Amino acid sequence: MTPKTSLEVGGMGHSIKRKEDPRFIRGKGTYVDDVQLPGMLYLDIVRSPFAHATIKKIDTAKALATPGVLAVITGQDLAKYNLHWMPTLMSDTQMVLPVEKVMYQAQEVAAVLATSRYTAADGVAAVEVEYEPLPVVVDPRKALEPGAPVLRTDKKDKKDNHIWHWEWGDRAAADRAFGEADVRVKEDIYIPRIHVASIETCGCIASFDKVDGKLTVWMTSQAPHAIRTVFALVAGHVGLAEHKIRIISPDIGGGFGGKVPVYPGYVIAVAASVLTGKPVKWMEDRMENLQADSFARDYHITAELAARKDGTLTAIRIKTLADHGYTDAAANPSKFPAGLFHICTGSYDFKAAHVEVDGAYTNKPPGGIAYRCSFRVTEAVHTIERMADIMAHELGMDPAEFRLKNFVKPEQFPYKSALGWEYDSGNYAGALRKAMERIGYAELRREQADKRRRGELMGIGISSFTEIVGAGPSKHFDILGLKMFDSCEIRIHPTGKAIARFGTKSQGQGHETTYAQILAEELGIPAADIQVEEGDTDTAPYGLGTYASRSTPVAGAAAAVAARKVRDKARQIAAHLLECSPDDLVWEPGKFSVKGAPNRFKTIQDIAFAAYTNHPQGMEAGLEAVSYYDPPNLTYPFGSYICVVDIDKGTGEVKVRRFVAVDDCGNIINPMIVDGQIHGGLTMGFAPALLEEISYDEIGNIQGGSFIDYLLPTAVETPKWETDKTCTPSPHHPLGAKGVGESATVGAPAAIANAVVDALWHLGVRHVDIPITPAKVWKLLRERGVTE
Ligand code: CDP
Repeated sequence: MTPKTSLEVGGMGHSIKRKEDPRFIRGKGTYVDDVQLPGMLYLDIVRSPFAHATIKKIDTAKALATPGVLAVITGQDLAKYNLHWMPTLMSDTQMVLPVEKVMYQAQEVAAVLATSRYTAADGVAAVEVEYEPLPVVVDPRKALEPGAPVLRTDKKDKKDNHIWHWEWGDRAAADRAFGEADVRVKEDIYIPRIHVASIETCGCIASFDKVDGKLTVWMTSQAPHAIRTVFALVAGHVGLAEHKIRIISPDIGGGFGGKVPVYPGYVIAVAASVLTGKPVKWMEDRMENLQADSFARDYHITAELAARKDGTLTAIRIKTLADHGYTDAAANPSKFPAGLFHICTGSYDFKAAHVEVDGAYTNKPPGGIAYRCSFRVTEAVHTIERMADIMAHELGMDPAEFRLKNFVKPEQFPYKSALGWEYDSGNYAGALRKAMERIGYAELRREQADKRRRGELMGIGISSFTEIVGAGPSKHFDILGLKMFDSCEIRIHPTGKAIARFGTKSQGQGHETTYAQILAEELGIPAADIQVEEGDTDTAPYGLGTYASRSTPVAGAAAAVAARKVRDKARQIAAHLLECSPDDLVWEPGKFSVKGAPNRFKTIQDIAFAAYTNHPQGMEAGLEAVSYYDPPNLTYPFGSYICVVDIDKGTGEVKVRRFVAVDDCGNIINPMIVDGQIHGGLTMGFAPALLEEISYDEIGNIQGGSFIDYLLPTAVETPKWETDKTCTPSPHHPLGAKGVGESATVGAPAAIANAVVDALWHLGVRHVDIPITPAKVWKLLRERGVTE
C-alpha cells in the first residue's frame, strides 16, 4: 500500500482545499486578518513613485466614480483635524498623509476607502497625483555637506539635515590611550539597511462604536498599551480618551521590532472608522511592508582599536553616521538616540572608550527599529567583533587566543564597562572554550593551513558577543516618558485554576508556555491549569510590550514576583487552616506543611478554595496579586559562535560549512523554546550577513523592495546549526534568567564575516561589508588576481 500523504490522512484526499481541511482552520481565528466584522470597509493606500517631490494636485474624481469606492482621504482632509502629522517614538514628527510634499519612494500619499479590498485597489489605481520632483538626498554623508538641500522644510528653523549628535565615554582618556598604543587599527564598516520581513505584514481593523464612543483596534502591535496611550495623546482633541480606546493585539505572525511603531495606515484606519462609524480594515501587502515600514540598521561606522604589542587591548574609539530617513522614527528608549550602541566595548576589558553618533535626514523611509536586537546592539556587536578580528590578525595572533587574553574575567563581575554599563555576570572564556572544543578548532586551523597551501579558500570566524537586554530600569529607560517596567497579574480561582495576564505580547516566542511554567514552578499549580493572556488593553495590566528580548528579564520577573506575593497570602491562609503560626510552615511546590509534621499540609488548591470560602477574619477574600516589575539592572546574555566557511573561487560564493553556537542566557525556563529562538535567530543573522539589503539608487529608487531581490534565506541556503550552552545565572533576576530572543541575530553576522575575511586575509583583505554577496567576493578575488 502506498503511504498516504498528510492530506489523505483522515480520508481528506487531495481534492480538499487547504482552507476546507479542518486541520488547517485556525481554532480561534485570532490573527488580525481573520477578524470579520459586519459592514467592514477596506482601506488601500496610494504611494509615491518619487523619493522627493512637491504634490501639485490630487485628482480623486475617477477614483470616486469607481463602483464601491466611498471616499478618498488626503492630507488636507486629515489636516482639518490636525491629524496629518504624528509624533514618532523619538519625539520627531512623521506625516500621516502629506499636505505639501513626499519625502521617500512608497510614502503614503492618499487613502481609498471602499466596500471591498478589490474595489479599494481599483480606487487607488484611479487616483491621479501630479508631482513636481525635488532634488533627492540619498547618501547621509552628502546630506550633511554644506549646500545640501534641506529636507525638513516643515521645521521652521531647520537649516541642515543634521538630527542630533550623541556621545558617550571619555574622549580625552581614549585619545591618550591611542597616543600611547603600540598598535592601532582603523576600519570603515557599513551595516546596511535591512528590513523585518515577518510572515504576517502589518495591519489593523479599527472599529468605532458611535453609540458608546468606544474605539476598538485589532492591530499587529508588539506594544498595545503604549499604542493606546499614544492614540489618546494624539487624538484626545477629537474625543478619543484613553478609557474609550481598546487595543487588541491578537496572534501575531512575527514582530522583530517592526511592529513597535505606529504606521500611517493605522492612524488613517482609525480616522476613517471614527468618521464613518464603520469598522475599517487596513492590511499592507508584502511590497508595502518592505518598502515603507520602518527599516533597521543603516549605520556608517568608523571604528578604531588600540593595543599593546603583547596583544592587550587598551582603547576603542567609534564615530558613526546614522541614516534615519526623513524622520527619526527609531524605537529607542528616549534617553538613548543611538540605542544601546555603547555596549560596543563588547566582551573585552577596555580601560578607555569613546563613541559618538550623528543622525542625518535623507529621502528614505524612517525607522531605526530594533530588528531582533536590543536597540543598536547588533551594530555594536558587529563592530567590536569585526575589529577584534582585525586587531588579532594585525598582531599576528590567533583570534581565539586574542579574545581569551582580553575577555572580562569571571571574577571581575559585576563589571563596570568603560562606557558605564554594569555587566551583571558572565564567563566569556567558558563559552568560547566550549565552542572551540565542540567544533574542533585546533584541527580546523590545521586543515585551513593545508588548504591554503593548496590554494583553497577556507576561513574560521569567531564572534564572542555580549548582549544587553531587559529594558529597563526606570531610572534610565522610558519610551515617550513611559517607564519601561512590565507586569503580571495573577488570579487564582476557587477551584485552584488560574488566569495570568501580562503587559507583554508574544509574537511566536511561546510566552503562553514559558510564563505558565514560571507560575507553575512558583505556585505548584500545573501549567495546564494556568490560562496566560496578553495583548488586550481592556484586560491586561499596563506594560511596555515585547521587543528587545525584554519579556523574560522584565515580565518573566514580574510573574515570579506576583506568584511570590500570592504565596505570601497563601501562607497566611494555610496557617489559619492548619491552626499554626505562618512561621511554622514550610513551602514545597504545591503545598504548605507544618514543620516537623509533613502529614499536616494544605495544597495550593485547598488554600485557593479557602481564600473564597474560609479565609481568616480581617483578611480580604480572594487570592490574586499584581507586580509591576522595575528591573534593578539589565541582563547581559552572551555567547561564542564559531563559523567555518569555504569560498568558491570561481563564483565567489560563500558556503557556511559548520556553525557552532554556544549561548548563555542564565537559567533557562524552557530549553526547547530557547533552542528554537536560537535557531531562528541564527537564520536571521545569517540573512543579513550573506543575503539581505535594501539600498537606493541616486534618485531614491528602492533596490530590494520585493522578494525578487530582497533575498530571504530558505531552507536550501540555511546552514545546519549546532547549538550548545553554558549557564551563568543573572544575580539580580528573581529566576536567574537573562533574555535570549535576539542573541543569535546579534551574534551571528560577525562570525560569518570574520570567517570570510579570515579566508581572504592572506590576500590582503581586511574587511568586507555585509551582505557578503558572491559578486562582492568575486570582485575582491579578481582584483587580487585570484581565478578559478
Ligand atoms: O521578549 P522576547 O519574548 O522576544 O524574548 P525573551 O525574553 O528572550 O524570550 C523568548 C522566549 O524564550 C520566551 O518564551 C522565554 O520565556 C524563553 N526563555 C527561556 O525559556 N529562558 C530564558 N532564560 C530566556 C528566554
